[in-house]
Amino acid sequence: MSIKSLLVLHSYHHKNTEAVAKVLAEVLGARIVAPREVSPAELAGYDLVGFGSGIDSGKHYKPILDLADKLPSVDAKKAFIFSTCGAPAFIVTEGFIRSNHAALRAKLEARGYAIVSEFGCPGFNTNMFLRYFGGLNKKRPNVEDLKRAEAFARDLAQKVS
Ligand SMILES: Cc1cc2nc3c(=O)[nH]c(=O)nc-3n(C[C@H](O)[C@H](O)[C@H](O)COP(=O)(O)O)c2cc1C
Repeated sequence: MSIKSLLVLHSYHHKNTEAVAKVLAEVLGARIVAPREVSPAELAGYDLVGFGSGIDSGKHYKPILDLADKLPSVDAKKAFIFSTCGAPAFIVTEGFIRSNHAALRAKLEARGYAIVSEFGCPGFNTNMFLRYFGGLNKKRPNVEDLKRAEAFARDLAQKVS
């Protein structure tokens, strides 16, 4: 069965999350759109919707959170969440990623979305003073991160088909 998937992405700092989204989109055969390019009602036409961005102040970027606030209620529509974050790689654990995703997850679940799975990895970060020291997480996402993203998408595709 072919699943109609859409990725809603906001990625601007170093396009870190865009690199992940491209891999996910390739595996899922999905289109990538920015939050401003999609009307909330349009999402009804998809079987699976992925929501992703970088992390600011421990949450997804505001355009993604704002879109989630405007979504009409759905009946257990399948969704997934992804992100890249600029925290030092050794603290980017499953639990840390889940806590970065908590605000978006709560909004989506409140609208009736069923979150199938979540992906996160470190991303190059030159926010604020970090730029004076060459930044954190240089060259992330790296090849390994993108391989994990690919495996995540394959597993997701199996779960939803
Ligand atoms: C304004 C701003 C705030 C940020 N806040 C956080 C944060 O709270 N936690 C974190 O881990 N990374 C934070 N970062 C780092 C980004 O989440 C990280 O670099 C991410 O990979 C950028 O994704 P993008 O290139 O797709 O925009 C911040 C970056 C910016 C520019």
